[in-house]
Amino acid sequence: IYYMLEEKKLSSKKVLVTAGPTREEIDPIRYISNYSSGKMGYEIAKISKRMGAYTTLISGPTNLTPPYFIDEFIKVKTAYDMYTQVMNKFTDYDIIIMTAAVADYTPKVKSKEKIKKSKNNFALELERTKDILKELGRKKRSNQIIIGFAAETNNIIEYGKQKLISKNADYIIANDANKVMGSDFSSAFLISKDKVIQLEGSKEKVAKDILTNIINN
Ligand code: CTP
Ligand code: CA
Repeated sequence: IYYMLEEKKLSSKKVLVTAGPTREEIDPIRYISNYSSGKMGYEIAKISKRMGAYTTLISGPTNLTPPYFIDEFIKVKTAYDMYTQVMNKFTDYDIIIMTAAVADYTPKVKSKEKIKKSKNNFALELERTKDILKELGRKKRSNQIIIGFAAETNNIIEYGKQKLISKNADYIIANDANKVMGSDFSSAFLISKDKVIQLEGSKEKVAKDILTNIINN
């Protein structure tokens, strides 16, 4: 079968992947989220496993089935849950791939009861979440490889390069969110300190390209 054809280029490695959106609760029946489907992260986790890595997937809410034979699958809901799980796990992983579309803001107060409508205008106060990738960039060992994603709608390469530096990541995969979010296809730039490589095709193909490029470096 197909998965046996993948070269085991990642055996003896441990790979941690995050995927999907997060949900930030407003009240018991409402939340703030985004259009991330989780597909890219699930493809990366699948290919990582096929390449022989011990693979852990930490996922926000998606409609996807966890890849077969994955070593650990951890479901999370909020940005804070994802932060906690990643921080608990990352030290013994060689490669950490942050595909997740983590919410940047969360409601400052989570109402325990349903918020009833009253005035014509309603302002919801939000506060910043923790930047998981940035913290990984600060804490990583020199032999760990950290890969971030960048969802952009404009100036894709430029913003990607800025994130590579500000987050101290080894790679940023920068993509056009308008084209890629929710789709089965991906068109992205793999950005490292010394080069920019364009990747295009199905998310499965792009997942292979990402892992292959990283291994060969
Ligand atoms: N990320 C994270 N924690 C957050 C927000 C983002 O770890 N609270 C990670 C994402 O998983 C992704 C990378 O940071 O790998 C870039 O996410 P992106 O939303 O593109 O960038 P931000 O730094 O949040 O900046 P902005 O949304 O303002 O462009
Ligand atoms: Ca963001």
